[in-house]
Amino acid sequence: MKEIRNILCIGAGYVGGPTMAVIADHCPEYRITVVDIDARRIDAWNSPRLPIYEPGLDQVVARCRGRNLFYSTDIPKGVREADIIFVSVNTPTKTFGSGAGRASDLQFVERTARQIVEYAQDGKIVVEKSTLPVRTAQALSRVLQANAKGLRFQIVSNPEFLAEGTAIQDLDDPERVLIGGTDDPEGQEAVEAVARIYTHWVPREKIITTSLWSSELTKLVANAFLAQRISSINSISALCERTGADVDQVSQAIGMDSRIGPKFLRAGIGFGGSCFRKDILNLVYLCEHYGLPEVARYWESVVDINDYQARRFVEKMLEAMFNTVTEKKVAILGFAFKANTGDTRDTPALAVCRQLLAERASLAICDPRALDNARQELGDADGNVSYTPDPYLACQDAHAVVLLTDWPDFQRLDYRRILDSLQKPAFLFDGRNCLPHQALFNLGYNVYPTGKPPWTHFP
Ligand code: NAD
Ligand code: UGA
Repeated sequence: MKEIRNILCIGAGYVGGPTMAVIADHCPEYRITVVDIDARRIDAWNSPRLPIYEPGLDQVVARCRGRNLFYSTDIPKGVREADIIFVSVNTPTKTFGSGAGRASDLQFVERTARQIVEYAQDGKIVVEKSTLPVRTAQALSRVLQANAKGLRFQIVSNPEFLAEGTAIQDLDDPERVLIGGTDDPEGQEAVEAVARIYTHWVPREKIITTSLWSSELTKLVANAFLAQRISSINSISALCERTGADVDQVSQAIGMDSRIGPKFLRAGIGFGGSCFRKDILNLVYLCEHYGLPEVARYWESVVDINDYQARRFVEKMLEAMFNTVTEKKVAILGFAFKANTGDTRDTPALAVCRQLLAERASLAICDPRALDNARQELGDADGNVSYTPDPYLACQDAHAVVLLTDWPDFQRLDYRRILDSLQKPAFLFDGRNCLPHQALFNLGYNVYPTGKPPWTHFP
């Protein structure tokens, strides 16, 4: 197999952008180009203000851009010159036709395969970096091999496990790198070529190789298991609220059992982000497709509990605030789906805000990084919504403070100053359990954590 020199990544998003920057950082001998059909995104990658916020990303891009890392819209040139092509395009849930609301929309992936066939002048390794339904490689292979130029392509699955907010750390020091390929010698050679890229900085024992189908399915299962833990603890948070138990104490105690482990047991308003819901729904669709309705229902319940948790949060607010929030100002602290990102895709804050707007509350939304995206997400919403990066302004004259994202910034606020500016009685709802509830109660707040007894001054 020809030596790898030029790497192309198709798709300059949350995965393609950071992943290729980290590969460029560790592998100065490779020339890496990231292409996208979105010219504005590429312009931003080439500017001082990158299109996504990710701690540490600016520094990595500054080290590599123009040296061995290039962002471009010239897809034909990129494909022609590449020895290996990572496909990192979006795979959203289908919104139309057969499988709508569940299946992955594979139009973007198929389009990249057709672009590769159109522009390639020699055979290449094509790497599935996007998260895809199991057996997508078969369809991709059929599109790629059906070329009239006699070119042979090798398909490798190399799913990405980075989490937003810690992407650079996750890429620099991954817990594992998974590479799936076909069993034949060419397939194994392609797997080895991809593995060699990672061996520049990842220990060999962390690079695991499997069949194509196992690799594709593992990615969906990893996300499903992570999301399932969150729904499990959130379901228990509802029971804690009814019984007076404290969900954090339960999490800590069960998490000390090494068979369970402590991570991903933080109760809150539910999981968000572009992938958990989409990947579970895709898993549900696959189970239905393969005639496994019981398995499909099992995984679907993970999404059901997630939706229930956001609904339940607003119902708790209503009940506490005398069954009405109409024309009351509610300060929303945090709109991003988690801390350290500006990403608001499928953020549970959106469900909470929409429900509060349906109750005719007026909202003042504050987020350190996600206000532009918040404006877009709520662009079509009826009602009174304002946006400010200043949490004190958001809380001024509000009836309730609602914490929806676990940004450390919100843990460091002057809550006495905020209390002075609030309507009384002052309500605080902590949807992430990251504030000091008793101390806030002592200041004078009526505090409603998640999955714990409330701290109220009411008789
Ligand atoms: P994204 O929407 O941020 O980026 C995808 C990019 O692909 C977009 O910029 C889009 O313009 C571009 N694109 C689409 N079709 C194209 C084409 N034909 N040619 C060139 N560019 C094209 O998506 P993302 O968050 O980076 O996710 C990409 C994939 O990675 C998805 O399958 C996702 O499930 C998976 N994934 C995402 C994360 C994450 O944290 N966001 C983590 C692991 C895996
Ligand atoms: C997740 C996975 O963690 C990554 O491994 C995967 O690569 C990625 O999805 C993907 O495929 O897109 P991400 O969505 O970026 O990463 O962030 P997470 O840290 O997993 O958080 C997801 C959501 O769960 C957030 O809304 C977070 O607030 C919530 N969460 C997380 C909880 O409510 N409780 C927890 O204990 C942990």
